Amino acid sequence: MKHRRKTLAAALAVAALCFAATGAQAQSKIKVGFMLPYTGTYAALGNAIENGFKLYVQEQGGKLGGREIEYFKVDDESEPSKAVDNMNKLVKRDNVDVVVGTVHSGVVMAMAKVARDTNTLLVVPNAGAGAVTGPMCAPNIFRSSFTNWQPGYAMGKVAGEKGSKKVVTITWKYAAGDESVEGFREGLKSAGGEVVKELTLPFPNVEFQALLTEIAATKPDAVYAFFAGGGAVKFVKDYAAAGLNKTIPLYGPGFLTDGTLEAQGAAAQGMLTTLHYADGLSVPKDKAFRADYTKSYKSAPDVYAVQGYDAAQMLGAGLAAVKGDVSKRNDLVAAIENAHIESPRGAFTLSRAHNPVQDIYLHNAATTENKFEGVAVKGLADPARGCNMK
Ligand code: PHB
Repeated sequence: MKHRRKTLAAALAVAALCFAATGAQAQSKIKVGFMLPYTGTYAALGNAIENGFKLYVQEQGGKLGGREIEYFKVDDESEPSKAVDNMNKLVKRDNVDVVVGTVHSGVVMAMAKVARDTNTLLVVPNAGAGAVTGPMCAPNIFRSSFTNWQPGYAMGKVAGEKGSKKVVTITWKYAAGDESVEGFREGLKSAGGEVVKELTLPFPNVEFQALLTEIAATKPDAVYAFFAGGGAVKFVKDYAAAGLNKTIPLYGPGFLTDGTLEAQGAAAQGMLTTLHYADGLSVPKDKAFRADYTKSYKSAPDVYAVQGYDAAQMLGAGLAAVKGDVSKRNDLVAAIENAHIESPRGAFTLSRAHNPVQDIYLHNAATTENKFEGVAVKGLADPARGCNMK
């Protein structure tokens, strides 16, 4: 009898422990790992993405899919050679449920490889590397931003339609710049123009003088430049200081002036660029987003903040469908795939390669705003060459 009572007590204790564990499981937080640049030329972009993401979570009362969120952070320094180690810090050391990152295309390719190998859920809130939603596409990899091809293609089309026949391109020599120029070339060609010279310098160098001299000597109808963050501020200022902006229009994807306009000042005024976001959109969601963002962070949001916000919205759609149970991966993925994201940029859906299908706007730099000028290409989908989604 005594023995039986002991056994019963032990069984009850185990049951209580199990119950506590299940309770803890239900209560435990979703671990979100930010792998973003917090230093270097893209630091402001990383911060804006994190701010945007957190703003959406805050608006949901701090929870997605009914579970609180716990954040982990790694500064990737926009350094591809450190990307695998940095990704492993989040995946293996911190054991996160999802990684949100990053800005730089070279870094994101290494991240996508680790995500594929470990089946980690990855939401890319900027980096436009075509491979990630091309040959490397996978059920567990999503993007809330763009491919480098998308704004490039739109700008090429607009530049051609505006009469640019011979264009010089200039960019940092890495995947993002190369792909942006490829998109531009394709768009320009469709409108009767051609790229006559491609100038490059290593990322993140900002010694532009010799290249500006070469542009002046070539006398093209226009220049197309891919730079972003601190590098974009310096390039636009140097272009104007060399007097080139008076005779040769400077075009680019909107990264050239988005989030950088205040620092560029007079040098950027009147520049036309193409992007999936603009100031002055008549999108009700955008008005609320801008008011909330400005209140929370005491600065105006930019495209990077929007992409961070939408990364959280996408993850939220997936988690809501499985009530926060991340082990139901297939249902979570299906819910994100089918989501209709009410973005501040305007509503978008995802392509079969998990990249936004979206309007690309033409915007015009005026004082501190990239004013909406019209839709350059409606509902543009990346061609997703090489994506074979299983
Ligand atoms: C990229 O590396 O893919 C990249 C970086 C900054 C941007 C856009 C694209 O603003």
